[in-house]
Amino acid sequence: MQPQQKRGCELGYNLRMTTKSRYEELKAQINFHNYRYHVLDAPVISDLEFDKLLNELKRIEADHPDWVTPDSPTQRAGAKPADRFEKVRHPAPILSLANAFGAEDARAWYERIRKIDDRVEKAKFVVEPKIDGLSVVLHYRDGVFVQGATRGDGEVGEDITSNLRTVRAIPLRIPVEGRKSKVEVPKYLVVRGEAFIPTKEFEALNRQLEEAGEKTYQNPRNTAAGALRQLDPKLTASRPITLLVYQIIHSEGGKVPTSQWEILEYLKTLGFPVTDVSKRFNNLEDAIAYIEPWDKKRDELPYEADGMVIKIDDLTLAAELGFVGKDPRGAIAFKFPAREVTTRLNDIGVAVGRTGVLTPYAVLEPVEIGGVIVERATLHNFDYIAEKDIRVGDRVLVKRAGEVIPYVIGPVVDARSGKEKKYKPPQTCPACGQPVEHFEGEVAWYCVNAACPAQLVRNVEHFVSRGAMDIVGMGIKIVEKLIETGKVRDVADIYTLTRADILEAVTKKDRKTDKEPPGKIADNLLASIETSKSRSLARLITALGIRGVGEVSAGDLAAHYGNLDALSKAGVDDLQQIEGIGPNIAEGIVDWFSRPFNQKVLKKLKAAGVWPQAQKTEGRRQEGAFTGLTFVITGTLPTWSREEAKAFIESHGGKVTDSVSKKTGYLVLGENPGSKFEKAKALGVKIIGEEELRKLAE
Ligand code: IVH
Repeated sequence: MQPQQKRGCELGYNLRMTTKSRYEELKAQINFHNYRYHVLDAPVISDLEFDKLLNELKRIEADHPDWVTPDSPTQRAGAKPADRFEKVRHPAPILSLANAFGAEDARAWYERIRKIDDRVEKAKFVVEPKIDGLSVVLHYRDGVFVQGATRGDGEVGEDITSNLRTVRAIPLRIPVEGRKSKVEVPKYLVVRGEAFIPTKEFEALNRQLEEAGEKTYQNPRNTAAGALRQLDPKLTASRPITLLVYQIIHSEGGKVPTSQWEILEYLKTLGFPVTDVSKRFNNLEDAIAYIEPWDKKRDELPYEADGMVIKIDDLTLAAELGFVGKDPRGAIAFKFPAREVTTRLNDIGVAVGRTGVLTPYAVLEPVEIGGVIVERATLHNFDYIAEKDIRVGDRVLVKRAGEVIPYVIGPVVDARSGKEKKYKPPQTCPACGQPVEHFEGEVAWYCVNAACPAQLVRNVEHFVSRGAMDIVGMGIKIVEKLIETGKVRDVADIYTLTRADILEAVTKKDRKTDKEPPGKIADNLLASIETSKSRSLARLITALGIRGVGEVSAGDLAAHYGNLDALSKAGVDDLQQIEGIGPNIAEGIVDWFSRPFNQKVLKKLKAAGVWPQAQKTEGRRQEGAFTGLTFVITGTLPTWSREEAKAFIESHGGKVTDSVSKKTGYLVLGENPGSKFEKAKALGVKIIGEEELRKLAE
């Protein structure tokens, strides 16, 4: 070999080594920042910096696919959907707990075990929250997460490894890099924890589903359990599942502590998420005194807890006490009183949400549940009422759990007198009286009346927003006031507002933190209303808030029709000639322009001089990775709304249509897909998830 050649070869080898060590370093860094964010809730870098690290890692993996190991952070949601779950035999039984309903039960438990072994008298007790979630078993070999299972029957569970990988609180490698103390990890370690969805995240998820017109979930526990036990890991990844770990089931090749308190500390040191509500006591009475106030305080916990667990700290003693069936004698669940009651369903009301979605709620005979008087409870959606056959006048079982809005579990059928009335969903909006509508593939009913007082605030907000008419200074407070005082009855009224109208809306209270004098606020707002008159036609079309018409479609429509006179006369077939306008959007447009209320708004806008003509540049799609490709979106995507996914595709030059055909390039699949999914499969259309869509753009 020539010296030069040799040097080149060595250089290549070194470069490879540098990349490899950088790769290992990146993996450890990302896993550490993931831990800081998802376990400690205390990130030390920004999301942007995190994404940069992750992108660097992805680039290296693209060049060296053979380097990728299961502990790489890119492997969290990489697995393909499975046909079924394999069975996993647990290395030791996954036990459950006997219950104590109050202090007396707990004392009786203590007496029972004291009689079996008098060492109990000197025992310490650890108290932990009893989280209402799903028990999971996590296996680590040489510190790497290799398998995760459900509890199953306690002997054999189901292998849900791919789903559990998507749970970011689960460390893929232990100890998590960056932990201060050096800690030994057994060659094989099996731990147990409780997977759950935090209450706040659950409510946010339901709000999001409701706005999208989809079915909401009944409670966090079932949602978490359902998400972990379905076959596509991508769908699990879209659910905000986390976990807390509390037990070592088995270990080989290394020492682990022998007291529960030390186990919790040890698990924490390894980088597992561990509750910080746990405490150790020298006797049972102190433990009970700690637990009892938690019944009232349980809403302070970020998850649903149905009690506290009392455990004998000395695990050798606990094991020697043995079991009764599947319940170990060394621990007991101190249950909080259930927050479920029955009461009479006096009526069913209907609320109109931000997007016009109609949501039914129960008007209850007031009843106390856990110290709170409950008069209303959610009924989720109209399908739910029908499925559960909930009738007005029924006695219903109502649950209040954590901070979750109380919900009706179902009717007590045996308590019926025969006078109960079957419920029919309203045909008209309870706020404005206009007929309600239903869209294919959604469970919700909508009020689509732009003048509906329940929706006017939202319509005006949208009209003045940045991507639309961009009227600076027209904040939500002012909008609400103007609607309340009757100065704004539709979006066109904005253009006839006087200085006095605005001054009236800018009350002292609203200006608490505003240093500007009201006169100046009014003048500035009037000026930005005036400026908005010259916004482009595309922006005005966006601002009208026609269902399905986003910024890009608005641009296409503006370019095609040139002004609102022509667009308002367009028929469904004509509209569908435009790229990107499918049958649903076309119908939505025709429907919007056919409504007398909207025609009046258009007339007023024209009279106010808000009647732009199209500019030549409008409607041109951006060129990009998706140019020439057509996409169809179905179901709920993990992080993006439909509009966001559409904007993303369009910003890369792609087209989004409503129906699947042979011409469809990709179906973007989310949770609870509609019939489009079946059709795409039948036609052999490529099916991808949100993450793949992102990757495809790269
Ligand atoms: S200890 C021997 N600790 O409650 C150990 N269980 O009814 C037995 N749970 O199936 C379990 N939080 O899913 C334990 N801190 C905690 C818990 C806990 C929730 C669940 C677990 C178990 C059920 C017992």
